[in-house]
Amino acid sequence: MKIQTLQLTYRIAQEAELSAEEQALIATAKEATNRSYAPYSKFHVGAAVLLADGAIVAGSNQENAAYPSGTCAERCAMFYANSEHPDMGVKAIAVAARLDNGEFLTAPITPCGSCRQVLIETEHRYGAPIRVLLYGTSGIYILDSCVELLPFQFYSEALEGKG
Ligand code: THU
Repeated sequence: MKIQTLQLTYRIAQEAELSAEEQALIATAKEATNRSYAPYSKFHVGAAVLLADGAIVAGSNQENAAYPSGTCAERCAMFYANSEHPDMGVKAIAVAARLDNGEFLTAPITPCGSCRQVLIETEHRYGAPIRVLLYGTSGIYILDSCVELLPFQFYSEALEGKG
């Protein structure tokens, strides 16, 4: 039997340490929480996608009385970006979440498994890593690629029998 170990590298930054472009991306994600529709969870999530040309597209979680019919902010933003700008690669995504009382989470919000799978698909689609910025008031987690979020991800090459 062989044992293999996977390592994950990420940075934890304060907002002032980020570039102006990254700060704007975080600000857009935070602002997008105001447009979430979360009457059930009362958990307001915003995501902002930075396109290759510098434009920013935002999304927020959209819930439904039939709970599984709702969607997360990350998928909302990414699908919106990909459907409006199918020829434009994606450079980064920022995510922020706050409670009903307006307070942003102290610890960075981390995307759910389904969103991770969708982010990775976009990374493969445009052939370039997408930087992930996960906002918390205590610090921002920065990962250089979505693949870091999901070891053993499923992707299209498996459909062709390649591993
Ligand atoms: N949610 C997101 O939008 N993004 C995440 O990363 C985690 C969870 C949403 C889904 C649901 O509307 C609410 O937060 C509670 O799970």
